[in-house]
Amino acid sequence: MALQEKIDVLILGSGGREHALLKACLRSPRVGKVRVAPGNGGMALEAECLPVDVADPAAVLALVRRTGSGLVIVGPEVPLAAGVVDVLEDAGVPAYGPRAAGARLEASKAFTKDFLFRHGVPTAASATFTALEPALAHVRGGPVPVVIKASGLAAGKGVVIATTHAEAEAALRDMMGAKVFGAAGDEVVVEEFMQGEEASIMLMVCGEEYLMLPPSQDHKRVGEGDTGPNTGGMGAYAPADVVTPEVERRVRQEIIEPTLRGLRQDGVDYRGTLYVGIMVTAQGPKVVEFNVRFGDPECQVLMPSLETDPVAIMESIARGTFKASSVRLRPGSTVIVVLAAGGYPGEIRKGDVISLPGRLPADVDILHAGTVRLADGSVATSGGRVLGVVAHGPDLRSAVRLAYEVVPLIKFEGCHYRRDIGHRQLRRESAR
Ligand code: AMP
Ligand code: GLY
Repeated sequence: MALQEKIDVLILGSGGREHALLKACLRSPRVGKVRVAPGNGGMALEAECLPVDVADPAAVLALVRRTGSGLVIVGPEVPLAAGVVDVLEDAGVPAYGPRAAGARLEASKAFTKDFLFRHGVPTAASATFTALEPALAHVRGGPVPVVIKASGLAAGKGVVIATTHAEAEAALRDMMGAKVFGAAGDEVVVEEFMQGEEASIMLMVCGEEYLMLPPSQDHKRVGEGDTGPNTGGMGAYAPADVVTPEVERRVRQEIIEPTLRGLRQDGVDYRGTLYVGIMVTAQGPKVVEFNVRFGDPECQVLMPSLETDPVAIMESIARGTFKASSVRLRPGSTVIVVLAAGGYPGEIRKGDVISLPGRLPADVDILHAGTVRLADGSVATSGGRVLGVVAHGPDLRSAVRLAYEVVPLIKFEGCHYRRDIGHRQLRRESAR
């Protein structure tokens, strides 16, 4: 292979997902210097963090020019929807992530439902409304539970699973009347409730060529046994056995292939991560949602599953030359347990100093999310999901055991975490 010059990489974002991407860049033989905008307290210990508004495409382009970055990796959805990749690519800068036209698959649930129906991809039946009264009339005449979704970006909070007609009406009034999610609630999707078990399928897509990363499972509720309010995700593991070989075959054939074909037919050259949230129902897998970036915390358990350099994959996708057959995956299981701030997912405590263990066992990493580095060099809490402990093992049980050996060594006021990450699969394994 020809000797290639190393490239400097700029990562956009500030969460645990971006810390995982940073670690992947630091391990990559392809990468020279790595910079992050804006980053967090843990990333600041490992790379230069630059305070830039990543949703402002012109500011990102100016930063790329100033730093001479040869590849931009976009972590979150907001810059993608704002067209950061469009501006970078048009200026000749390779960027990993879809352009704004592709990012609509996350930025508009109404658009996505229409896309899925048009291309015959299995998903929950739904109707879209832009006015309150017809939406109210629709739910009054329909079954419960029913799912009410603000169409626009609402930081993962715009979904209500209403178990009574009164709850459904209240959700519609909140979103469309009181505008609790702002413009995200101008359009609302009312959707059939799907019964089943969820899984996250992360694809690295280059047109119709794609790599399916090991299926993973998130834990969205704050409390053990999947109780309490929804969060951004309290833990995850991969591979997730709810995606059996038969489910995987159906996902590829019935969901992924028509989706990628549909994007091409609609004139979208999709390059970047496509996160397919599925419900494994009695009738087979159905799409719950698309996201146009890696899941957080799923990304943190998927980067270690790649034996092939993830940065080389992202670069070849950005350049449109990716071949999925070039990729090797690592065997074994990886889990992440998220440590959250007091009060999360409600009003959170901030500014609590964090005590971290000095040495970590092999196969364990601590990734930062909502942290800041203080002037004296210590690290304090600054967000809802504070840290994640990532552990790898030959199987899920050993990975989980290892993670929970390290979790109690991390201390900060108000810290809480779930003790049952992986519970569905562990229970299935015990029953076998
Ligand atoms: P979304 O932002 O669309 O992924 O919705 C957030 C969460 O709500 C999902 O991860 C599911 O747990 C749940 N959810 C969304 N849509 C449905 C549905 N149609 N049926 C059952 N649960 C759903
Ligand atoms: N973990 C779910 C998400 O990133 O949307």
